[in-house]
Parts: sequence; C-alpha cells; structure tokens
Amino acid sequence: MAVNICGTGSYIPSHVMDNDGIAGLVDTSDQWIRERTGVKRRHIVDGETTVSMACEAGLQALRQADVAAEEIDLILVSTISSNVILPCAACEVQKRLRAVNATCFDLSAACTGFVLAYNTAAAYLAGGIYKTALVIGSESLSNLTNWKDRGTCILFGDGAGAAVLKADARRMYFPVTHSDGGKGGALTLKSRHDWNVLNAPVQGDERYNGDEFFMQMDGKAVFQFAVKKVPEVIRETLERNGVSQEEISWFLLHQANKRIVESVAKRLGEPIEKFPMNIQEYGNTSSASIPILLDEMNRRGALKKGQKLVMAGFGAGLTWGAALYEWI
Ligand code: COA
Repeated sequence: MAVNICGTGSYIPSHVMDNDGIAGLVDTSDQWIRERTGVKRRHIVDGETTVSMACEAGLQALRQADVAAEEIDLILVSTISSNVILPCAACEVQKRLRAVNATCFDLSAACTGFVLAYNTAAAYLAGGIYKTALVIGSESLSNLTNWKDRGTCILFGDGAGAAVLKADARRMYFPVTHSDGGKGGALTLKSRHDWNVLNAPVQGDERYNGDEFFMQMDGKAVFQFAVKKVPEVIRETLERNGVSQEEISWFLLHQANKRIVESVAKRLGEPIEKFPMNIQEYGNTSSASIPILLDEMNRRGALKKGQKLVMAGFGAGLTWGAALYEWI
C-alpha cells in the first residue's frame, strides 16, 4: 500500500516585504541578503493567520483533488507558529472546511515538519487506518521573528501549502528521518508559557519581549549541519528503497537558503536544475516551503507521470529527513 498525492494547494499573503524594507529595520542591504541567502523578498501576514492560510491552501488542494470535505479521514497541520493552541490548528481547519469525519491534530517539527507530516499520514494510509488525508504546512513566522536581529530577520516569511493524499495500491517507499536533540541549541524559540507562575513576566514588563521569545539561531552551525546531513539522508533514503539517484527527476528541498540547496546539489553531483527553488520570492517558510514548492510545480505542469521525486526537510530539533514519491 502506498499513497497518491491527488491534489495540492497553497496560499501566500499578498503583503510583500522586500530586502530594502528589511534594510530599513536593521543594518543590512539587498545585495548582502541576496548573495548570502538568495532571498529577494518575503510575504508577510497582514490580517491572515496560520489557520486562515491553512484553510485556503487546504481548500485549493481539495478542489484540485475533487475530494469533498466529508471524505477526509485525517487532517494534519504542521506548524510552529499557530495562532491557536486550543483547539489545535487542524481542528480549526476541520471546522471551517466542514470536514466533519476527519481526525485532526497538529505536528511540530519546524522545517522538517511537512516531510514528517507526510510520512505520518502515509503510514496511516498504508496501514489501512484512514483512506484520505489532508496534510498542510502553514506558518506565520513573521510573528516569531526578532525584527531587530539581522542574523535571522532576513531569512523568514509566511505562507501555507497543502496536499491531499489517498491510499493507493502501488509500491510503498520508506522514508528515512533523524533527530539530534543534543544539537537543538543551534535554533531555538522559547514559549512565553515557559514561566514560573509566581514570577511570570507580564505584558509591559521588559522580560516579556526578551530575545529568547523570538527565533534565535547559530546560522553557521545550522548551515554546516544542513549541507552535511541533507545529502546523507537523501542517499540513505534511495539506498533503503533500492532506487538509484539517476532515477530521481526532482529534489524538493526545504527552502532555507539558496547556498544550502546549491551545496546539496554539488555534494550529490546533480545539476542544480533538478532542485527547484522559490526562496527568492518567499524566504524560508519552514514547514510550508516544500508543499508550496510542490504546488507551484504541480500547477505549472512540471511534474510528469512516472517521475520520481525526493522531498527533504531539515531544521530545528535538530531534525532532518527525506521521502520518495512517484508522481502519477
Ligand atoms: N547583513 C549584513 N551583514 C551581516 C548580516 C546581515 N543581515 N548578518 C550578519 N552579517 C555580518 C556579520 O556580522 C559578520 O560580520 P563580521 O565578518 O564583520 O563579523 C559577517 O556578516 C558574516 O556573518 P556570518 O554570520 O558569518 O554570515 P554567514 O555567511 O554565515 O551568513 C546566514 C549568515 C544566516 C545567512 C547563514 O549562516 C545561513 O544562511 N545559515 C543557515 C540558516 C538557515 O538556513 N536556517 C534555517 C534552517 S531551517
């Protein structure tokens, strides 16, 4: 038993912040950001929420798949930036889509989130537990960004992507995923709920907006981790499934940094044309980046029947992993 991606969707906020806009906030320049990251602009929520973007992306995917909301058995939302904690974002999506028969939960694995959500849904489908799943990555990272920190605020953006998965009788590909919590200090974000109730900072207290409540990153450490571990896990995934690298038409990598993608391509000895990128337009949208890219490729007809593709995510945790899929 395997899975069939039978519809994709995405939502991007219309509000654009280009690099010159960032240069108005911190000491940086358009040239520096483009050269070091590949990012030219990012889209930022302006009224949208993580849930509203998830709904829009999910609706598009359902329409393309021609699947009715009531047919969905499972809704999984991958996010680290939900505007709601209770009920979870997936239950909010269920309510708005009227997917009354779905079981719903969120998954938090940052930039590896979509790959892990896809794998989780695929395992449920392959196990015969559910038949139809809606998997969404949605992030409003602009709310978690320290707009005074030039080491991070240049990188991130907002958006959502979604895929409808159905159980399918074809061969199943096994994913390979890893985590190393010991190295988690390289990319952190503390919850404002991590308080001792007797000593909690309240709004207005200067501790309330402390740096630890925004994303903090050792950029070099994350960069080195990504360029080493991503090619490794892609090779491991191909080996585990007995698929050769030459059989892969597309490598859909998490869009963290153009230089990371270029380095992975080089280390795998593959042409960069097999690594589609949209980081220049959206920045790093964490768990939304792979499904947004997938949807863009799908809608412009770049994905052909029988093509094999690899999706690879990496990020906070540290976590990383890859999944193989054959387009039908
Ligand atoms: N604008 C201008 N200068 C900047 C800057 C910015 N936004 N950010 C840092 N600098 C400066 C530094 O102060 C440093 O100056 P110095 O040489 O005078 O000390 C210099 O540029 C180099 O800084 P460094 O941190 O070594 O830059 P870098 O080449 O490592 O690039 C990142 C920084 C963040 C772009 C890069 O490390 C990166 O992309 N890492 C991976 C991050 C990532 O993908 N995270 C998400 C993973 S899911």
